[in-house]
Amino acid sequence: MYGKLRYALGTGDVGNAIGIPVAYRDDHMLVLGATRQGKSTLVADMTAQMTNQSVMVIDPHRSTVDYLLSRNLPDKYEPESIFLLCPGKKFVPGLNLLQVLPGETAYDTAQRFTEVCVDIFFGGDITEARRFQDTTLHTTWALAATGWTVVEIERFLTSDAFRSVLYDRLNEFPDLQRWIMRFNGLNRVQRQTQIESTINRLAFFQHGEPALLFGQRESTIDIQKFLSLDQAVFFAPLSPDLLHETGAYVVAGVLLSLVDTLLAKRRKNTMHPRLRIVVEEFQRYPVPSLIRLLTERRGFGASVTLVTQGLQLLSRSMRSTILNNVGPIIAFRVSADEAQTIAPEIFRPHPHTIRRVLNSGEKEFYTYSEMMAYAAHAVTQLPHEHFFYICLSTRSNGG
Ligand SMILES: Nc1ncnc2c1ncn2[C@@H]1O[C@H](COP(=O)(O)OP(=O)(O)O)[C@@H](O)[C@H]1O
Ligand SMILES: [Mg+2]
Repeated sequence: MYGKLRYALGTGDVGNAIGIPVAYRDDHMLVLGATRQGKSTLVADMTAQMTNQSVMVIDPHRSTVDYLLSRNLPDKYEPESIFLLCPGKKFVPGLNLLQVLPGETAYDTAQRFTEVCVDIFFGGDITEARRFQDTTLHTTWALAATGWTVVEIERFLTSDAFRSVLYDRLNEFPDLQRWIMRFNGLNRVQRQTQIESTINRLAFFQHGEPALLFGQRESTIDIQKFLSLDQAVFFAPLSPDLLHETGAYVVAGVLLSLVDTLLAKRRKNTMHPRLRIVVEEFQRYPVPSLIRLLTERRGFGASVTLVTQGLQLLSRSMRSTILNNVGPIIAFRVSADEAQTIAPEIFRPHPHTIRRVLNSGEKEFYTYSEMMAYAAHAVTQLPHEHFFYICLSTRSNGG
């Protein structure tokens, strides 16, 4: 725990400088705290100090990206190393969410997209999701195979003429053509129920700025190029006013799946550009790609900073995956419920500490649960902009 510090975080109890020890620089990190406690500001501060590596910020509420932009972070990068998925700025390229990655088939792409949607809309409940899944999977498959974008979903499902144009271009996909024939043969009511579940849920891509950002076929942001650079920034501020909250989470989830898929193609444990991925509000899109990034992609050069109001919404297994794979944990004030969950993690009593209490012969004697109750109380009482901080001797790499 000694050695030099990186990424200044703040000032400790006795005026000492607090930062991430060099040894933990490439570890996954977790930043917790209720809203308005200072998470985004701290994460933006840390990120602004990471100029010797690539940084990707996925931010469905856009404040972290706004802090970074207000600090002119992009000025430190070459223009061709700046990737902004930022509406309202001229000449910003869009992102084709159905872009077929190298080594992938159009079916893989459609499946990747649909899985993200199912996770976010239905919490992974496949039974409830089946109708949505069937229609969406086939529709996005057809679109991906012909190079169209997710924005065209509505036209595909509602326009016979549009469907027939695409049908003709799908000669190499007999399964898909059969599905379209079957879809064409449904009566109006059957068709309507199939269409509704898909269009209702993906409507946020259809109009206005989202359609401009996600409807471009020729000028899609090149994530592969981003990943190949030593020092680049990729900002995805996906504000809810643009995309509706759920839409922001879908795009965030798809971005994670794109990065995860591309990283998996790298050769393991050789030199790759280092990448830090900042994932804000990830508890709203805990897609399988995020788990893979945490558990499997360190050897491919990627580390993740997870930012969240709490781990309570997550499944127990997701929670323990996170806590078992992060090094530094920074905990601002959290709710009482949340404190119960995280107190044992951020106040792991050191074995020596416990022994000293037990052997002291004094009356002062705390059981583990009393200590944790006190710790939980402490996290709920933290003043604004204050945080607890611990570096867990990782766990993921044993160092
Ligand atoms: N260390 C700090 N000192 C002063 N003000 C801060 C500090 N950290 C955050 N703030 C302010 O507190 C507010 C909430 O911060 P923010 O980082 O957006 O919180 P969160 O991401 O936890 O919701 C913002 O107005 C921000 O400028
Ligand atoms: Mg925030």
